[in-house]
Amino acid sequence: MTGKKIIVAVTGSIAAYKSLLLVRLLKKAGCEVKVIMSPAACHFVAPLSFATLSENEVLVDFFKDDTWNNHVSLGIWADYMIVAPASANTIAKAANGISDNMLLATYLSAKCPVVFCPAMDLDMYKHPSTIHNLKRLQSFGNQIIHAKYGELASGLVGEGRLAEPEEIFEYIQYTIAASDELKGKKFLITAGPTYEAIDPVRFIGNHSSGKMGLAIAETIANKGGLVELVIGPNQLDIQHQGINVTNCTSAEEMYAACQKVHASVDVSIFAAAVADYRPSEVATQKIKKSDSELHLTLVKNVDIAYQLGQQKRNDQIHVGFALETENEEANGQKKLQKKNFDFLVLNSLNDPGAGFKHDTNKIKIIESNGKVNDFELKSKNDVAKDIVEFLISHLLEK
Ligand code: CTP
Repeated sequence: MTGKKIIVAVTGSIAAYKSLLLVRLLKKAGCEVKVIMSPAACHFVAPLSFATLSENEVLVDFFKDDTWNNHVSLGIWADYMIVAPASANTIAKAANGISDNMLLATYLSAKCPVVFCPAMDLDMYKHPSTIHNLKRLQSFGNQIIHAKYGELASGLVGEGRLAEPEEIFEYIQYTIAASDELKGKKFLITAGPTYEAIDPVRFIGNHSSGKMGLAIAETIANKGGLVELVIGPNQLDIQHQGINVTNCTSAEEMYAACQKVHASVDVSIFAAAVADYRPSEVATQKIKKSDSELHLTLVKNVDIAYQLGQQKRNDQIHVGFALETENEEANGQKKLQKKNFDFLVLNSLNDPGAGFKHDTNKIKIIESNGKVNDFELKSKNDVAKDIVEFLISHLLEK
């Protein structure tokens, strides 16, 4: 963090006092900090407090005496801009390109990553316009540290509290440290289920949500890697600038999309739950109910990981996934060899909290030399971090 140039942009919210602590943490870590306040923020905390802690003049207006505060040069100066607290008003204005104060003009001129940390009353936070505006900010590549649940200034209890300064600081610290680690590397990630059509309205599918694959994609993209995410039907909100999404439905479509990019990537991660079989014929019209039994003939689908494993070059890395219900490690080992994986992430349905429908997962990583690495039950985001760290330390750094 030493020497990093950070703008802390404070808007009108009772939580503005927490940003004093954030400035302190950043300064202690060796950052150069400049604070911009919206005019409304000055009603909550005096600029003098921020000036003292940041050891820099605090900017509020476009003009001071006869001098013009240059928002453009400030936007270029910064390595990172943190809008904390970000009020509903500032979020709405930023999402729509309004720049009627110094803070917003600097945001529009910023060349660096910007993170918004919302803080407001629970009904404002839940309002569809705020949700929409935050999504819009994300779609422009901004990052959001979502508000937390707890007691609010209004006396109500709910979501809307500014994240604690320590959490914001840790996020920035992690992101800055991580942001260049995978720069220049390209990744293919398969994720989600595949749906194999029976007729125009029915399909064979599975419960995969695509969450694990997306969490890995986001972790990699946050570290500067470029991700080609080839994903089956899903309900996910995929917004990251570093992730190029190809949506597909069937295994055949997923394979075709992977083939287009496989040769150009450094690492392929096969997190999709591809249907192993598909109906041999797809009825052109909806199948009508008639007999008491309906027999479908299924044929084997392409094994994407196996096929691409045959084409893998020495400079490429393949990571596989397996969900086993028995003889997990032995079956995992076999899959690793057969599909030419460099390592395999094993989930077990026997572990409570692991698997398709949970937000948590418990994994083992099996290496090609047979070594098994055990991990604790964690959120899928933290599991993604473990997998990506493992990839970096065991394979990419060699
Ligand atoms: N995989 C794939 N294409 C398929 C099937 C699987 O790319 N048609 C990939 C998965 O994404 C995963 C790995 O292969 O990375 C293992 O998937 P899994 O379903 O466990 O393997 P299968 O070969 O289908 O074995 P099983 O008989 O256990 O279903």
